Amino acid sequence: MSTAQLPSKVRIVEVGPRDGLQNESNPVSLDTKVELINRLSEAGFRYIETGSFVSPKWVPQMAASGQVFAGIERRSNVTYAALTPNLKGLEAAIEAGADEVAVFAAASESFSQNNINCSITESIERFRPVLRTAGEQNLPVRGYVSCVVGCPYEGEVAPQKVADVCNMLLELGCREISLGDTIGVGTPGSIGDMLELVTKQIPPDKLAIHCHDTYGQALVNIYTALLFGIGVVDSSVAGLGGCPYAKGASGNVATEDVLYLLQGLGIDAGIDLNKTIAAGNFISQALGRRNGSRVANALQPLAV
Ligand code: HMG
Ligand code: MG
Repeated sequence: MSTAQLPSKVRIVEVGPRDGLQNESNPVSLDTKVELINRLSEAGFRYIETGSFVSPKWVPQMAASGQVFAGIERRSNVTYAALTPNLKGLEAAIEAGADEVAVFAAASESFSQNNINCSITESIERFRPVLRTAGEQNLPVRGYVSCVVGCPYEGEVAPQKVADVCNMLLELGCREISLGDTIGVGTPGSIGDMLELVTKQIPPDKLAIHCHDTYGQALVNIYTALLFGIGVVDSSVAGLGGCPYAKGASGNVATEDVLYLLQGLGIDAGIDLNKTIAAGNFISQALGRRNGSRVANALQPLAV
C-alpha cells in the first residue's frame, strides 16, 4: 500500500506515568513509579510525562511528583515533562527540574470547570503568567486541549471550538498542542471532521494526537491523524489511565499497540517494542492487573 501521505517518523509522548497513574485509586509506591520511568527511558522513549504539579486534594496520586523527579535516573536525551495548571505548579515543576511543562485547557466549558475549576477564558488568563515565567526560564510549554470531539457533560463538541482553544494556546506561546479525545468517543468520522477543520487553521507539525480507548477506536483514530500529517502521538504503556474528571473514560491507547501499528506502516519511532512490553508487564504486575495492551498479551502474555 502507498504510505506517501504518512509521516516518516513519529515521536511518541509516553504519558503512562502521569495520565496512566493519576487515575489509580490505590497508592502506587514511589519506587514503582521511578522504576517504570527508568524502564521506559531504557526502552528508548525520548519524552516521558513524569508527573503533575496539581492540587494533591484533586489528584492525590500525583502528590509525590517532586520525589519521582528526584528519584529517576536522568538521561540527557530524554525530556521529562510535567503538567502545571498554574504558577504554583510551574514553580514546583521548575524546582523538580522538569525539562518541559504542559498547561491543559478544554474545548468544553463544563469539562474545564470540572477539571480545573474555571472557565476556558479564565484558564487562558491563568496560563498567561505560566507561559511568561516558563519563557523567562527557557522552559518549553506544551498545551493540551481536552474533549476535542466529545465531552462527558455536554456531548458533541464543535470543531471550531477546538481550533479556537488551540489558537489561544499557540498565541500564548505553547510549542505544540495535543488534541485529546479524553473520553475516547471519537471515530475516524468525528476525528476526521475535527482534523479537517483544525489543520486548515493550524499546521499539523504543531499538533499531537492523544486518544483514550474507551470505545476501541483509538488506533484507527491515530491512523486517521497520521494521514492528516500529525507526527506526534501520546500513548500510555500497558494502556494505563483515564481521567479522574471524565467519568467512564478508560485508559489511553496502549503504547505497545501504537508501536506495533507504526512498525507495520514502516514508520520509525526509535523505541524497543520488547522492552516496552516488559515495562508494561512490570507496571501491570505492580498494579495486580492484566496488561491492557493487546500486542503485549499476544507477544509476552503475563500470567495473572
Ligand atoms: P482550585 O481549588 O480552584 O485552586 O483548584 P485554588 O487556587 O483555589 O487552590 C486550592 C488549594 O489547592 C490551595 O490549597 C492551593 O494551595 C492548592 P489549600 O489552601 O486549600 O490547602 N493548589 C495547589 N497545590 C499544589 N499544586 C498546585 C496547586 N494549585 C493550587 N499547582 C486547580 C484549581 C487547577 C489547582 C485544581 O483544579 C487542580 O489541581 N486540578 C487538576 C486536575 C487534574 O490534574 N486533572 C487531570 C489532568 S488533565 C487530563 O488528564 C487530560 C489530559 O490527559 C488530556 C486528555 O486526555 O484530554 C491532559
Ligand atoms: Mg488523557
